[in-house]
Amino acid sequence: MNLRNTATSYGIISRLLHWIMAFALWGMFLFGKNIADMKPSLDTIHLYGWHKSVGILLLGLIFIRMAWRVISLPPKLIEYNSTPKIQIIIAHTVHVSLYVLMLITPLLGWLASSATGFEIRFFGTFLIPAIFPEDAAFEELLFTLHEISATTLVALSILHLLAALYRHFIKKDDTLRRMINKS
Ligand code: HEM
Ligand code: HEM
Repeated sequence: MNLRNTATSYGIISRLLHWIMAFALWGMFLFGKNIADMKPSLDTIHLYGWHKSVGILLLGLIFIRMAWRVISLPPKLIEYNSTPKIQIIIAHTVHVSLYVLMLITPLLGWLASSATGFEIRFFGTFLIPAIFPEDAAFEELLFTLHEISATTLVALSILHLLAALYRHFIKKDDTLRRMINKS
């Protein structure tokens, strides 16, 4: 079992990071939509705490993932040489955009949450510092940006999912298989 990526395959670290984050991000999107529709109360306050803590964890994971991508370069797209240039450009643009959105979505959540003045306690343990002063006007703007960023992330990941399914079921190549299996 390869830890590192090779010229033609993804190693276990990249695959684990990819799938854990994919499911966690979609879950966090639905979770976020649910808490945004709720009336904050003593009964629901812990849900905000969970959303914020998992979000901070995902922020940590994206830094690890970006570092790992530099340490262990991903394989080239399958059939790189015979794939139309425009398709390669689109695939790379979507991947880079997903990285940027995975970084800024939790950052905007952290900024917005700081602007509310409420504390962020990491899974009920230590305090995560505020990175923005309490500010009601900015709070609204930052939450709107957090929502837009999360929605764009999910929309783009659906496009990315469709591309993976196209390669698997129509082109019948190993693109999806190598993100799931060893080879
Ligand atoms: C990548 C991880 C994250 C995703 C995908 C995500 C997604 C979302 C979504 C979709 C909403 C609902 C927005 C709306 O419809 O108004 C939301 C709300 C919220 N998010 Fe996040 N979020 C993430 C990380 C964070 C982090 C790190 C924090 C704070 C430290 C945070 C704090 C909040 C809060 C407090 C709300 C509720 C806002 C309200 O009551 O209107 N989120 N999030
Ligand atoms: C929020 C959800 C997702 C995000 C943020 C995401 C993000 C990414 C990123 C950034 C890459 C590029 C990896 C790199 O080269 O560094 C990638 C690759 C890949 N993703 Fe996702 N992904 C998500 C969901 C999915 C889903 C649902 C599928 C398919 C069912 C999928 C299939 C793939 C495949 C097959 C690759 C490898 C492409 C190749 O070998 O060229 N992803 N993903």
